[in-house]
Amino acid sequence: MTKTPVHRLLHPTRLLINLTGLAGSSNTTGDDQKKLDVIGNDIFVSAMRGSGKCRILVSEEEEEVIKFDEHPNARYAVVCDPIDGSSNLDAGVSVGTIFGIFQLPDEILGAGKTVGPEALLLPGTQMVAAGFTMYGASAQLVITMRGGGVQGFTLENSLGEFILTHPNMQLPPKRSIYSVNEGNSSYWDKWCTEYFHSLKFPAEGKPYSARYIGSMVADAYRTLLYGGIFAYPADSKTPKGKLRILYECAPMAMLFENAGGMAVNSRMERLLSVVPESIHDRSGVFLGSKDEVQKVIDTYNKYH
Ligand code: AHG
Ligand code: MN
Ligand code: MN
Ligand code: MN
Repeated sequence: MTKTPVHRLLHPTRLLINLTGLAGSSNTTGDDQKKLDVIGNDIFVSAMRGSGKCRILVSEEEEEVIKFDEHPNARYAVVCDPIDGSSNLDAGVSVGTIFGIFQLPDEILGAGKTVGPEALLLPGTQMVAAGFTMYGASAQLVITMRGGGVQGFTLENSLGEFILTHPNMQLPPKRSIYSVNEGNSSYWDKWCTEYFHSLKFPAEGKPYSARYIGSMVADAYRTLLYGGIFAYPADSKTPKGKLRILYECAPMAMLFENAGGMAVNSRMERLLSVVPESIHDRSGVFLGSKDEVQKVIDTYNKYH
């Protein structure tokens, strides 16, 4: 009997069941959907439906709000980015899932009552909890409850459990690391260009280090751990910004504020106070160590 050579057995299409690559569709915000975007979304939707606790769900990958009318008394609304950083998936970069949880007012719950997208046009301050998972070399889970601390967990594979490895995460007030897609520099406002220039060519002291992964969960996790600043400014190419308020900006802003950091939009307004005009509305983002965000505000104020 001839033996199948090992390389034939390990051929990617057999092991990865071809999970990489595009799904051949795009979502409401114009992103090309990766196969894992669609699979991640389907898993998240069925998990929320199965929980019996979720009344409505907003997902990056769903144009409309998903209503679980079979659970008329479920009191939570969930917002999610099923796979954040998916453009990097094929390159093996860390991606993750971002989520936020709102508690719905009793008066809109109950049989026969309809709950629409307007129920989620709320500021992030209304969230009761937020968090993200990051699927990297080991899986991380970072979560916070309104007004509570930020707890970091790591999956212990041998137990199949998440272990509390980073209790009460706190950002240092300053750290010379900046994280932004410099490829957009030609689109930035003057104040924004001046701000980043001041980090690279400081009047005194050493220049900042640049770190940009292009996956918000990975850039945010590093900034939570080490400090510094992460930014996706609104600019002339994306006047409203690229990142989505409900399921990227607000959950991250809640985490960073609860970890002692700050999070503002491109008009230096507190990101958690921003009310989305639609469920996929976007915003500019500057978030990170308090003193680093304050430097952005000080530069902005020189021009406004
Ligand atoms: P998503 O993969 O959920 O669509 O999010 C992508 C976002 C975010 O993860 C990241 O910070 C940003 O897009 C990177 O954008 P650029 O590739 O334009 O830098
Ligand atoms: Mn996307
Ligand atoms: Mn995302
Ligand atoms: Mn996504």
